[in-house]
Amino acid sequence: MKKFPTCYLAPISEYTHRAYRELCKKRGAEFTFAPLINTTQIIHQKDKNIHRFIDFEKEKKVGIQLFGSRPEEYPRAIERINTFEKIKWLDVNAGCPMPKITKIGAGSRLLTNQDTLIEILKSIQGFDFTKSVKIRLLKNSESTKKLVEKLSPLVDVIIIHGRTPEQRYSGTANWDIIKEINETTDNFIIGNGDIQTIAQGKKYIKEKYCDGFMIGREAMKNPWLFSKKDANPKKIFFEYYKFYKKYKISNPNDLKQKAIQFFHSFRGAKELRSTIGNMFSEEEIVGYIKDHDFK
Ligand SMILES: Cc1cc2nc3c(=O)[nH]c(=O)nc-3n(C[C@H](O)[C@H](O)[C@H](O)COP(=O)(O)O)c2cc1C
Repeated sequence: MKKFPTCYLAPISEYTHRAYRELCKKRGAEFTFAPLINTTQIIHQKDKNIHRFIDFEKEKKVGIQLFGSRPEEYPRAIERINTFEKIKWLDVNAGCPMPKITKIGAGSRLLTNQDTLIEILKSIQGFDFTKSVKIRLLKNSESTKKLVEKLSPLVDVIIIHGRTPEQRYSGTANWDIIKEINETTDNFIIGNGDIQTIAQGKKYIKEKYCDGFMIGREAMKNPWLFSKKDANPKKIFFEYYKFYKKYKISNPNDLKQKAIQFFHSFRGAKELRSTIGNMFSEEEIVGYIKDHDFK
């Protein structure tokens, strides 16, 4: 089997932009994913606006994820992106359960429209990059395994979030089904769902649940989880702030969103999050955090 990294930062919309990916890589994520991009939007976007979607110039260890329901749009979107920055890894989103994605026939809707998903994957075969598809579980392990069997020859890697679309984020991820799939396919399988520590991810690999693991929500709260070290939220915030400046994010809402994620699990964190939640400028947010000690 071809070798791939084992530890991944998940794609998270409006969160895993360049600055955040760089921070996670600095702290030990071996590979990262940019948030999902709409094929239709990429095709029709004016050049001057395209960098809202393409923020991976000369970036290493980054995968791009596309969503859409029209197979013919994928090669066009890819060619357009390639004129700005050559894609090294492309993932097709077939797992997102959010109505704004499924109502256009994309994301997890493709798990029920499997012929369309197959057509999409066929449409990208001519490109020279790592190909993956990110899916969720179907109703039972048999139907999920059947789907994986169909997808298997068309991709290098299959990323599996161990929940059904109907579950959204409720309940716990079903790692037993991920393991069953891993046992029956030759593809590199990246398992995803509820991982909180690197040790837990490594254990899943050791026990053959998957070949690699991907972390989402826990990495939103603590990008340092990828490293062996620990840091307090203030330190994490200011490390993030350096990347925020470096990549000229210039969006106080982004800073606020990150601070609210980082500041948790200590006395007074709730009040702090609500205070920051009511701030609107970068100066205000950064000044407030600088002037406070958090234990
Ligand atoms: C706010 C949010 C945004 C997400 N955006 C995406 C996305 O753009 N593409 C995608 O494939 N999954 C997306 N996901 C799903 C995650 O990549 C991941 O599959 C899911 O959170 C389960 O992993 P976890 O338990 O480690 O969080 C998103 C999840 C959250 C919470």
